[in-house]
Amino acid sequence: MSELSVSHLLGIKYINEKDIQLIFETADHFKEVIQRPIKKVPSLRDITIANLFFENSTRTRLSFELAEKRLSADVVNFSASSSSVKKGETLIDTVNNILAMKVDMVVMRHPNPGAGVFLSKHINAAIVNAGDGTHEHPTQALLDSYSIRERLGDVAGKKVVIVGDILHSRVALSNIYALKLQGAEVMVCGPKTLIPKYIHELGVKVSHNLREALNWCDVANMLRVQNERMDISYFPSTREYAQQYGVTKDILERLDKEIVIMHPGPINRGVEITTEVADSNQAIILDQVENGVAVRMAVIYLLASKIK
Ligand code: CP
Repeated sequence: MSELSVSHLLGIKYINEKDIQLIFETADHFKEVIQRPIKKVPSLRDITIANLFFENSTRTRLSFELAEKRLSADVVNFSASSSSVKKGETLIDTVNNILAMKVDMVVMRHPNPGAGVFLSKHINAAIVNAGDGTHEHPTQALLDSYSIRERLGDVAGKKVVIVGDILHSRVALSNIYALKLQGAEVMVCGPKTLIPKYIHELGVKVSHNLREALNWCDVANMLRVQNERMDISYFPSTREYAQQYGVTKDILERLDKEIVIMHPGPINRGVEITTEVADSNQAIILDQVENGVAVRMAVIYLLASKIK
C-alpha cells in the first residue's frame, strides 16, 4: 500500500508530488463518503486528535474537526485564549500535558512561523500544520489544488495567478510550492510593497498589473489583505488597493476567456473581489471549503496509518 513520505504535514516544502497525488486519490474516496446520508467511516476509532488553535480560525478549525469526526477519531479542542498559555506556560509544556492524556495527533495553528517544525523536534505525536504565521498553510494549498483539478481536470500546465498580499501570506507560499510541484505555471500579482524581494527564487512570474495578470491566467487566487499582520501602511488606502487590485464583474467580462476565481477566505467583499464576483459561477470559493473536509480527512487518515 502507498504511504506518505513524511510522518508530519509541516509544510508543502517537505512533501513531494507523489504525496500530493496520494492525498488527492484518498480525498476522492472521502469526498464520495461525505456525499452519503451517513457521512462517516470507522477508520480512526482508535485515534485521538487535539486541535490546538493559538490563532483565530473559522474554516480551518471547523473543517479539521469535521474531518476528524467523519473518520470516527476522538477529538479535543484547545483555544489559547481560554487556556493556561495565558498564565505563562510554554508551548512544549502545554502540548506535552495534552499528549500525556494519550493524544496521537496534533493539528496546530500558531502565529509564529516554524512553530510546527519546532514542536516536531520536541514531542512524540504526528503534527499537522494548520497555518504558522506568515510561513505555510499546507492543507489550504492542497484543497486549492484539489479544487483546480476538480474544475479544470488537471493542475499540470495550468496558469495560476495569486493576487494580493503575497508578503504576509502563508497561503501564497504553500500554493506556490504545491502548484510548482504539480507542473503549473505560477504568477504573483500585487503592489510592489506586498511582493517579497526573494520571490524570483521561487520560480514564479511577477506582475504589478491586475489586468495583465488576469489575461495571462486560467485561475486567479485572490488573497485577503492581512491588516492584522501589518505594522505599517503598505498602500495609500483600502479604496486605492481595491481600485488597482480588486476583481470586478466588469473586469472579468472584458477578458477574452472565462477564468476561475478562488479565495481562501475570509473575504473582504468589495476589496479583493466584489460580491457579484464572489457569488458568481466563475468563483469556486465554497467548493474549496467543501473539498477542504475531504482533503483533511485524507491527510489525517494517511498520517494516522503511519503511527498505527
Ligand atoms: N482559509 C483559512 O485559513 O481560513 P480561517 O482563518 O477561517 O481558518
